[in-house]
Parts: sequence; C-alpha cells; structure tokens
Amino acid sequence: MKIVCVASECAPFVKVGGLGDAVFGLLRGLSRTQEDITCILPYYAALEQNRPDLEQHASVFMQFQGKKVGNTLWSTRFKNIFFLFVEPQKGIDLFKRDTIYGEKDDATRFMYFSTAVFAYLSNQPKSIDVLHLHDWMVALLAPLVRSSHETKVGHISLSIHNLDHWGICKASTLSHFPLTLFGGRKKISLLQEGVLSADSIITVSPSYAKEIIRMKSNPLAASIRTKQSRFCGILNGLDLEVWNPETDPYLAYPYSLANLEEGKRENRLSIGLKSSGICVGVIGRLVPQKGLELLYACILAILKARGHVYLLGDTNKPEHKKMFTSITHPNYHPFFTFDEALAHRLYGAIDLLLMPSRFEPCGLSQMIAMRYGALPLVYKTGGLADSVDDTKGFVFEKYTKTACLSALERARNNYFENRQSWQAKQRAAMTSVYGWDRAARAYIAHWKKGKAIF
Ligand code: GLC
Repeated sequence: MKIVCVASECAPFVKVGGLGDAVFGLLRGLSRTQEDITCILPYYAALEQNRPDLEQHASVFMQFQGKKVGNTLWSTRFKNIFFLFVEPQKGIDLFKRDTIYGEKDDATRFMYFSTAVFAYLSNQPKSIDVLHLHDWMVALLAPLVRSSHETKVGHISLSIHNLDHWGICKASTLSHFPLTLFGGRKKISLLQEGVLSADSIITVSPSYAKEIIRMKSNPLAASIRTKQSRFCGILNGLDLEVWNPETDPYLAYPYSLANLEEGKRENRLSIGLKSSGICVGVIGRLVPQKGLELLYACILAILKARGHVYLLGDTNKPEHKKMFTSITHPNYHPFFTFDEALAHRLYGAIDLLLMPSRFEPCGLSQMIAMRYGALPLVYKTGGLADSVDDTKGFVFEKYTKTACLSALERARNNYFENRQSWQAKQRAAMTSVYGWDRAARAYIAHWKKGKAIF
C-alpha cells in the first residue's frame, strides 16, 4: 500500500506541539507494517539547524502571484519513512523564518505549500492508495486533488487534530494562486474545504468525535455531520521508545514499576526538591484550551496545603503569563518556556499532573504522566476521557472550579491517607498506555472500510 502523508510539522524534524508528535507516531506505527510511506513537509529554517542528510529529489513548477515559480524537493529516509521537504525557489521567503505558525500570511504560506505538493503529486506515475492530510494547513489538497484528472489518488483522508483551528482566510488570499475552486465567496475555511472533499475524516479520540457530532451551532461540525458515516475518532498512541522511564536518557535515575518509589524519590531530588509533600506538575502550553482558571485555582490550593508545584509551559499572551507570574511562593517553580529535557525530568519527579482542559481532542501529557507513574487529574472530555479514569487518575465531570478542586482534594487524600490505593492507581496507569501500533491498525481498517482499494 502506498501512503502519502502531508503535514505542516513532524517530529523530530519540526515540532511545535502535539501535532508534530502525532504525525510522526502514526507514521512510525504504519511503517512497521506498510513498506511505502512518504511524508511531505515544508522546508523550514529550523531544518537547517538540525539538517538531516538531504538529497535533491525533484523539481516542481507552479503558478504563484502570476508567475511560474519552481520548488526543489529534498529527500531523506528516516526510520523507514521517505521524507520530502519542499523548498520554494530563492526570493520566495515563506518558510525560512523563525516561527512556524502565527505569521500574518500563514494562509498564503500553507496554500503555497499545498499547491506545490499538488504539482508534485500530479507528476507521479505511480498511484497513491491513501493521501493523508493533517489539519487546515494542508486540507486544501483534498479539493485540489479531487478537481484534477492528473493525480492518481485512491482515498483522501483528513485528520482533524483540533476543530478550533479552521484556517479562515480571505478569498483575496487565493488570488495569488490560479484556483477556481471557491467561486465568489469572500471568506473561506480551508479546513471546511478539506472536510467537504475528503473521503474520510478522522479525529484523534472517539470521545472528541462524539463531541464534534453534538456541536449544534458549529458550521464545521455541521459539514462533518453530513459525512458522519465516514467520520470517526481514533485515540492517538504514545511513542513508547521516547517516553520510557526505564531508558529515558534525561532522567537522573531511570526506573520502572519494580522500583517506582525509589525512582520518584531520586528524580525528585534531582530537580532540587528535598522536602516532603505532594509534587504536582503542569506541563504544556498555557492557552485557554488548557483550563487556565482551573489550573490557577489548583495551584493556589496545592501551595496552601504545602505541596510543591512545577509549571513548564510557554505562552505568547502577556495576560496569561501574568496570571501565572503573579503567584509567588517558595514551593512554586514556574518555567515559561518549552524545554524537552526538563519536561522529561519533571514527568520523572512529579506525583500528580494537572490537566483540567476545557476540551482536549486527544492530549499527550496525560499519557506521558501515566507512563511515568504520575497520576493525571483531568476533566472528562475528548482524549482525556478516553485515556484516564478513576482507576488510574482523578476525573471530574462538571466543568466547574468546585468539581475540579474536589477532585484535587480526592487526589491529596489518596496520596496521604491511602498509599495502597495510590500505588494501585500508579500501577494501572503505568501499564495502560499504548504505543502507536494499535492506532495504526485502526487507521488502516478505517481506510479499508472507506474504500475497497487494497
Ligand atoms: C492538538 C490537540 C491535542 C492533540 C494533538 C495531537 O494539539 O489540541 O489534544 O493531542 O493535536 O493530535
């Protein structure tokens, strides 16, 4: 089976958030049973800092701003996956920048990328069984491919990692490209265009899929509902090689279930924590999705009860940062950045992870925490509901401060007064996290059901 994945990020080459991990994790899972897998990404400036061995693979031409422009496709093979990086010709400065997202011309940048990938696919002699697109950035490829007779693609599958990002752009943005897809509309959601043209749509957990179906006043959800029989949720896996407390090179003291107590104790010491008390972590981006008010309330409650809090998360909104810099306490250790090594060390040291996300398509931190014997405290939503229950963490069902703080109180009581139950939860948590093979099998089954092509 020939599978081509197109995405805006993929670990380890370029990773901004969970998307980059999920794209790579799935490719790895697929590559264990499928031999022909390609992943196409933009050639970002970030690639140059950590430049893999690249070979010139192809040149593709397209129309942009009324001119014919060229792109070089660079290739490398990594973990049995064939990677292609699209580099526009000199003078087209769309990807050699410091940031990956958040630029004013993001829509143009990713439309450019999608159009270049389309030009490449149109020249491929061999047919593709599955074209797998991730999120709004590359969703436009679905209508592009479907409107052409030159591309030989059996099944187009669109993954939605977060329905909050629609990829809205003005139709005038499209005037850079010779596209005739959108007849007369002023504003376009690139994700919606993908939804309407894809053969199947997949999101990253079964519960989030159900939540999407129930979103009554969301026009995108309404479009997805029209294709309900071709829509499903598959829970992301975790890269069990990278996230393994037994072999983690970042940990001062690697450990397993057999020496969990000792491991937690030593790793706690290694982050400088010498006194007793529950050690709580907040690890992830500080964005409203993550339930900032509830996080704030929990942090205060833990500090008041003499617990320790380690916060590792970045934000580009000053008001959010202010919320968490306003807390001062000797037991409070905030780090407003993203630091891979520190993240590993914190998962190794903490007892409890706070993750009261308002909504969470899948979520990665709760899975990592469980694998490292740290119990997650979560709101029952999306992927959190599908990966955590009260046998391996603490779940609250009503999105209120009271419900969240009462789950925190349950966690504290459990930690201090019922060690046996706490340890049983740790055991259940550590042994309940799946890798990507299961998810990869579910994707293949879904694609096969979608179209009898294999
Ligand atoms: C997005 C979602 C997150 C999910 C990730 C990978 O970042 O917000 O819940 O885990 O994508 O699918």
